[in-house]
Amino acid sequence: IPVDPFDLVVFGGTGDLARRKILPALFRRFCAGQMPETARIIGAARSDMSDASYTQMVADALREFSPGAQSHADRLRDFLGVISYVRIDAMGEAGWAELTQKITSVDRVEAYYFSVAPSLFGPLAERLQGHGLADRNARIVVEKPFGRDLETAKALNATLARYFDETQIYRIDHYLGKETVQNLMAVRFGNMLFEPLWNSQFVDHIQITVAETVGVGGRGEYYDRAGAMRDMVQNHLMQLLCLIAMEPPARFDPDAVRDEKLKVIRALEPVEPHHIVRGQYNADPDDADTYPDYRTAVGNPRSRTESFVALKTHIANWRWAGTPFYLRTGKRMRERSSEISIVFKETPHSIFAEDAGRHRNVLSIKLQPNEGITLGVTIKEPGPGGMRLIDVPLDMTFAEALGPDGGETVDAYERLIMDVIRGNQTLFMRGDEVEAAWDWTDPIIQGWTDRGDVPKPYDSLSDGPDASAQLLVRDKREWRKI
Ligand code: BG6
Repeated sequence: IPVDPFDLVVFGGTGDLARRKILPALFRRFCAGQMPETARIIGAARSDMSDASYTQMVADALREFSPGAQSHADRLRDFLGVISYVRIDAMGEAGWAELTQKITSVDRVEAYYFSVAPSLFGPLAERLQGHGLADRNARIVVEKPFGRDLETAKALNATLARYFDETQIYRIDHYLGKETVQNLMAVRFGNMLFEPLWNSQFVDHIQITVAETVGVGGRGEYYDRAGAMRDMVQNHLMQLLCLIAMEPPARFDPDAVRDEKLKVIRALEPVEPHHIVRGQYNADPDDADTYPDYRTAVGNPRSRTESFVALKTHIANWRWAGTPFYLRTGKRMRERSSEISIVFKETPHSIFAEDAGRHRNVLSIKLQPNEGITLGVTIKEPGPGGMRLIDVPLDMTFAEALGPDGGETVDAYERLIMDVIRGNQTLFMRGDEVEAAWDWTDPIIQGWTDRGDVPKPYDSLSDGPDASAQLLVRDKREWRKI
């Protein structure tokens, strides 16, 4: 279904995110017929560029980051036709009159994507309002990092609130746009099977792993000031945890869902220092030039920033009291794998012989790669042998279940940008959620600073430091295989 015509201004339109994610996402929605031909995309940045040279830059970016763009030559030409460029000064007045002239229509949705450093959010919001561009058709889209602690996040929220209503602010967490993340809600709230078991009486524990094989790459300067806790846990992992743990919202609408997520964050218990492990990756022994150790990669030989974190937390409410939630994420790990596992308890009593074997049901929700959901079920091992129990997966891998043409794969940014145009905030973080998340993470990070905590080294392409495995072994559990 096509969305309404819109004008989308991408501040930071020549930047990395615009080239890698935003523009390719728009192009794919254009090819799919969802983005109307009358929509307009306006790149805005500091560089002095003509429309033609910006359009050329977009074409190059699409060839690089949107495989298959060439085979859509006609569509590519039409798409480039809706693109223009304005040279703009976020801190001054240059370019604003020209931008205002371009945005003329009254009844169109106007979206302003702040793909820029957070220090420019305020100046941009102020100028949008000053030039009459912050009317009620306007929406702003902001990217993480949304602050670096509670204080800075509050200040950012307050700045944006001066010029825009909360219903106009779309804070992106691209994990919420991933297909399986929404499927998680469909599985939980569209089936009778799971919800009655979805509590501490039946669930032994929950694991959330987001493992990456990449290192910090060219983002060393940003990353060394952030670390895995700020870069991944405060946003992506906590959002996943919220969707797993929240109460069923009354409706699938933005505030009903976000109210429930907020309650989860507010019910999170503080993390005890011995329930958290930090790590920093070592160099790849076979190719240290290409894959140096963390400190070399960020150019800070004394860095104490973590590239890995594993922790155990609890949610203090009736549903989850006593059920541990284990979270881990890291760079340069064994595989690229993001998975949420709900590990159910053993049956209360086994009627079979002791050596028959005993298994726990595990519902695993795989975000990437190979999106899908698997439920481990215990059955009898086929064959003439006696009663021996084995664990087999009930596999709902989407590619297999739906066939190659059964489901259109839509990248997180495609979905989220279209949601901005449609005015649907369900998959975006509300200001109070972001603040509550910082409120929980701040003391953890402060504790490390106060104690002078040094992250533990871990081998490149491994499961992280040994202490991470010990975190679960101590509880007679183990991490799922990455
Ligand atoms: C980003 C982080 O938000 O998410 C990156 O800043 C990380 O450090 C990335 O690599 C992971 O996203 P995805 O979609 O590749 O899992």
